[in-house]
Amino acid sequence: MTDPAFADCPDRRGTGSEKWDRWPGDILPVWVADMDFRTDPAVLEALHRRVDHGVFGYTADPPGFAPSLAGHLERRFGWVIDPGHVIGITGVVSGLAVAARLLAAADDEIISFTPVYPPFLTLPGRAGRRLVRVPLASDGHGWTIDHDALAAAVSLRTRLVWLCHPHNPTGTVFGAADLVAIADLAERHGLTVVSDEIWSDLLLDDDAGGPVHVPFASLDHPAARRAVTLVAPSKTWNIAGLCCAAAIVPHAAWRHGWRAASGGLLPMVNPLGYAAAEAAWNHGEPWRRRLVHLLRDHRRRVVEAVAGIPGLSCIPPQATYLAWIDCRGSGVADPQAACEAAGLGTSDGREFGAPGFVRLNMACPTERLEEALHRLRRAFTPEKQA
Ligand SMILES: Cc1ncc(COP(=O)(O)O)c(C=O)c1O
Repeated sequence: MTDPAFADCPDRRGTGSEKWDRWPGDILPVWVADMDFRTDPAVLEALHRRVDHGVFGYTADPPGFAPSLAGHLERRFGWVIDPGHVIGITGVVSGLAVAARLLAAADDEIISFTPVYPPFLTLPGRAGRRLVRVPLASDGHGWTIDHDALAAAVSLRTRLVWLCHPHNPTGTVFGAADLVAIADLAERHGLTVVSDEIWSDLLLDDDAGGPVHVPFASLDHPAARRAVTLVAPSKTWNIAGLCCAAAIVPHAAWRHGWRAASGGLLPMVNPLGYAAAEAAWNHGEPWRRRLVHLLRDHRRRVVEAVAGIPGLSCIPPQATYLAWIDCRGSGVADPQAACEAAGLGTSDGREFGAPGFVRLNMACPTERLEEALHRLRRAFTPEKQA
């Protein structure tokens, strides 16, 4: 039976939900990466308490913020950080944008592994830096870093490697050997690694002998000691709208330059975001485990359904609640348009640098996911339409 915490969801239509208000009419949205579930009751309680306080003035990182994150990272990954290195930020995307400006100069190069979450493709150019794409390799069973291609991509202008770890959209968990190889390369060329680890609390098999998350900056390596890590409770506890994330920045000079690099464009984090983040990191582990349990079941459903649709394939994600579906064998020229025509609002692979793919968000009630999979079948087997 489905866990009741994940069965009964509020109606989000008309609430300004980016996901639900995108398409008029009967299109089931399975695109943007938030969940349809109410957040953890422990987070809600903390929010209620903060609201009852009644004062919402300018707020800097509260004293409990960095220690809560540090405690969470140590319990989850055995990674001990210095709480003094933590900066509260309004989002991980904001953190990437600031890092591009702070750690690279105009026309310097930033490496991203593709396909990838769209801001990794668009932010370098918007900051006046250059994007260099290094395609991930796939053997049909997994996605891997092509270290020769990575080495070949480095130039005298390269400053940063942006790691999406675990990786959106493929759901890949990079292992220690890959991370060490990246660190070695970074060390040889004086590069800084910026590691977006927003998905690191949603590994789907780490409690069952499957891949575990190794924070890049936790490696015993000089390149890891100067890496910047970006994390947030937003994906796991479904609080992205509260705009609270954290940058773990090892150098004092970088921490001092951080705000100036944002050019006055980024506001401070809001007090409700801090309250929710602290509660999630301090008290959210039981709920997180229940969520992962559900997502594992949803992954199985998606992988089985995709395997039954001619021309489609999906390498099971090791992390995230996203399924990256390869539709290139279907003969359908525009898979996103086909999905939308069948009433399914997927994410278009083109935005991730990969035409022919769609991304499906499986963080919704099981019944809704089954309806989404029904529509996916309909999109790619039109002759079977009723
Ligand atoms: C890899 C990755 N980084 C960052 C974000 C967004 O982070 P934020 O909302 O904190 O800016 C997402 C959202 O899907 C993501 O998948």
